[in-house]
Amino acid sequence: MGRKILLEHANVPGIKTYEVYRKMGGYASVEKAIKTMTPDEIVEEVKTSGLRGRGGAGFPTGLKWSFLDKKSGNPSHLVCNADESEPGTFKDRYLMEYIPHLLIEGMITSSFALGAKLSYIYIRGEYMWVYRILENAIKEAYAAGWLGKNILGSGYDLDLYVHCGAGAYICGEETALIESLEGKRGNPRIKPPFPAVKGLWQEPTVVNNVESIAAVPWIINNGGEEYAKIGVGRSTGTKLISASGHIKNPGVYEIELGLSVDEFMNSDEYLGGMMNDRPLKALVPGGSSVPILPAHLIYKNAEGGDRLMSYESLSEGGFQTGSMLGSGGFIVYNDTSCIVRNTWNFSRFYHHESCGQCSPCREGTGWLEGVLHRIETGHGREEDIDLLWDIQSKIEGNTICPLGDAAAWPVAAAIRHFRDEFEYHVRFPEKVKNRDHYVAEP
Ligand code: NAI
Ligand code: SF4
Repeated sequence: MGRKILLEHANVPGIKTYEVYRKMGGYASVEKAIKTMTPDEIVEEVKTSGLRGRGGAGFPTGLKWSFLDKKSGNPSHLVCNADESEPGTFKDRYLMEYIPHLLIEGMITSSFALGAKLSYIYIRGEYMWVYRILENAIKEAYAAGWLGKNILGSGYDLDLYVHCGAGAYICGEETALIESLEGKRGNPRIKPPFPAVKGLWQEPTVVNNVESIAAVPWIINNGGEEYAKIGVGRSTGTKLISASGHIKNPGVYEIELGLSVDEFMNSDEYLGGMMNDRPLKALVPGGSSVPILPAHLIYKNAEGGDRLMSYESLSEGGFQTGSMLGSGGFIVYNDTSCIVRNTWNFSRFYHHESCGQCSPCREGTGWLEGVLHRIETGHGREEDIDLLWDIQSKIEGNTICPLGDAAAWPVAAAIRHFRDEFEYHVRFPEKVKNRDHYVAEP
């Protein structure tokens, strides 16, 4: 059995309540941090742990904390990004729904480290029932004296609010999230300045993913060095993976980074292999924004080395033969899946969610969706495949925020690895129209 840090107590009856969570050792990190550590010591501990941002980018959390501009004289803030919206990603929802106090504890310990006295959890609007769970947990934490004025008699004050988004994917981008929290339309800002320098109300702000913040209590209780012993290389600790698609056991798993993709996919402890034992066709390992991998590049990299569940291993080979760990949204496809249809579906999503600020993204995502739709419905032209390639290459790297790249990369990877499938759609439109597909019969 792999080691559990975040989900260790997930199955304890009543763990959602303050009483049971506290009985299981909850809030010990707040006591330890406030009574025995300085904020700088906590930041150092998180740096030592090697924890990397679990929202998708994998940026070192301790390093981000150390960028916080404490000299500005302005108040600093911690904002938890719970606007989990990446297609295929549902691990933060699980954590907040089943162990809400772990996130609250992480928020208090981390806010203390950052000198934040006013912190927020920004949760996606569709998670309304989870919002209520968090509200209730926060109420319990206030009542028990972990939030509010003079926490543990230390003189440290902290107020924590949950703010509900209104259903826009782009508000998960940290600067759009900040704009939205300020009551404005969620348009991403140009970076730099990074939020660590000018964030919420132009004040120094750290934005961290739910899972990153939930890892902090364990790190403070056990030490950064202990955390760094788990995992492989620069991918330290454990990671939540939300697995979906054509597998026997979909769900949320906590894995030690460095587990082989083969074991994760095929052992009974995890995904249990392919549903109905059909052949594996493709994998999106880290949410819809990352490149799709064809079957021959899933268990082994292009050099024949084992593919591991880690930031480095999944991206081996760059975008030519690799992908990314991303947000841990692990989507598995069998031989009945149509890659063109899947790519069109993703493009439709990005077009719908583009905020429209920059033309390569606003126009480009529309073109991607339109051309893909044409091909998928049997009206494609031979030159459309090169046209798609051209459009995605003009979006990548030319936009304000990563949504542009996220729209471009899946299209590029699908054409790179499954060009024959696109060509089939163009050459045999009647078969495509009749759904007599290139793919295997379900
Ligand atoms: P990023 O690489 O631009 O930034 C990562 C973090 O490091 C940010 O918080 C940024 O402020 C900070 N940072 C980077 N350089 C800095 C510097 N010099 N000084 C101070 N701070 C600095 O990536 P970003 O835009 O935060 O995230 C993109 C990722 O988000 C994608 O890879 C995608 O996988 C993921 N994503 C996840 C979603 C989800 O639902 N979990 C939804 C959409 C995207
Ligand atoms: Fe908006 Fe797209 Fe530009 Fe991001 S890349 S700022 S979503 S238009």
